[in-house]
Amino acid sequence: MAKTTLTTSSGAPVSEDNNSISVGQRGPLTYDNHYLFEKLAHFNRERIPERVVHARGTGAYGSFTLSKSLSDFSIASFLQTPGDKTEVFLRFSTVGGGQDSSDYARDPRGFAVKFYTDQGNFDLVGNNTPVFFLNDPIKFPDFVHSQKKDPRTNLPNPAKMFEFWANHPQSLHQMTILMSDRGIPYSLRHMHGFGSHTLSFWNKAGERFWVKWHFKTDQGIKTLTEEEAVKMSPFGAQQDLVESIDKGDFPSWTVKVQIMPEAEARSYSVNPFDLTKVWSHKDYPLIEIGKLELNRNVDNYFAETEQAAFAPSNLVPGIGASPDKMLQARLLAYQDAHRYRVGANVNQIPVNAPRCPVQHYQRDGAFAGMCPAHGGELATNNQGAGINFYPNDQIHQGEPAPDAQFTAPPMPVLEDAWIGHHDQSDEDYFSQAGDLYRLMSDHQKQQLVSNIVGGLSMATESVQARMVEQFTKADADYGSRVSSALKA
Ligand code: HEM
Repeated sequence: MAKTTLTTSSGAPVSEDNNSISVGQRGPLTYDNHYLFEKLAHFNRERIPERVVHARGTGAYGSFTLSKSLSDFSIASFLQTPGDKTEVFLRFSTVGGGQDSSDYARDPRGFAVKFYTDQGNFDLVGNNTPVFFLNDPIKFPDFVHSQKKDPRTNLPNPAKMFEFWANHPQSLHQMTILMSDRGIPYSLRHMHGFGSHTLSFWNKAGERFWVKWHFKTDQGIKTLTEEEAVKMSPFGAQQDLVESIDKGDFPSWTVKVQIMPEAEARSYSVNPFDLTKVWSHKDYPLIEIGKLELNRNVDNYFAETEQAAFAPSNLVPGIGASPDKMLQARLLAYQDAHRYRVGANVNQIPVNAPRCPVQHYQRDGAFAGMCPAHGGELATNNQGAGINFYPNDQIHQGEPAPDAQFTAPPMPVLEDAWIGHHDQSDEDYFSQAGDLYRLMSDHQKQQLVSNIVGGLSMATESVQARMVEQFTKADADYGSRVSSALKA
């Protein structure tokens, strides 16, 4: 059979692909149209569920090059030797819109990086903002419902967004960022990325450090006003990224970390595990550790970007989680979402498959044995005749076994422990939002207030009053400007 012969999905040559098998010119079709049935049946199954959040995204491959050894802080193999390059896949996204929504929504941008290290994949699933709207995951579904489309009209409803924020002062810091001039990035290349959460490093001596990751755009920050954004083509950000990589204009980010010794978490002025707060750069300066560059577009959007599956639980030896409550829920939520959205063998799909050997006793499930990169030849055959339980008597013959050298130091309990619902209602959610406001120029303050009032003016008087109270607690001028603009 010639290489160019069209085939069925089972590889048989197809002799006709324009006309179905019919009973005469004017008659019905017959049951031996199995090729037609195959086409229609596959077409019916072309979609997988879109991500429940961050559905609209754009991904590309690249590399992370280490410029400073972190061996004092972490045993992570890709953080030891300056000059080492690690392949990465980065998926940018908006949060609230569906797959075909606009690239230019006023919305945080997802910034999810998969580092394919030689000791497994490390996923940093962050945003273009250093903080988030919430510090307790129990609010996440309510928050997302309030920000997405109205259940009756299927239209965005700014009044409901503000209704959520009016009841949750913890959102004020992130909301101030979102409504500021930084709220709509000009392109995916012109924004910073953040791990946002506090993660940890641990070193050979078993010492743990709390860590925040920052990716500073080398292209410079560029943003759009509301008026400019509505004039952009809905797919413009995706086009911008694909075209700049295609023409060799590779975007890059300078990678920095803030590091806090473990014990300082007990006494630091803010709770370092509260995702609504930043750490002052004066207290914990940014340490430059390398460069991240994107230099290769995907060949197939669905296979790679759509099926890419990032999980905050994808950690490697030397990098750990932290007591951040939001992070802990995310350690569960993402793998659960992947099993629903992509399937149990999601990590065998090439974009997700580690670039190092994968050796375990998990077997079977839909599409087991997909990926040659996943554990070499064995994975293409569901790990073949290899034994499928542990412990077993073949370990000395090379069957996989746990290796105690990768034991992480125990996560410390930082206060007198008790178990019960925590109460953060008297937390200070206002100082950092006020600090940010006071850093803005007069023009930036005007933009912020006008962006807020655009949506807040549609909310009830009670929501408006509670929001103004929050702005005033952050900064009296912030409150009075919003209040006057609402009256006007
Ligand atoms: C408890 C809080 C959260 C929950 C339960 C949650 C849940 C989810 C789920 C279910 C997805 C879809 C995953 C998929 O289908 O592949 C997702 C995507 C995503 N989330 Fe979260 N999320 C939370 C908080 C956050 C925070 C705080 C950030 C950033 C700091 C974040 C960043 C992202 C990003 C970037 C994606 C898209 C990943 C991709 O490109 O595939 N999420 N989230």
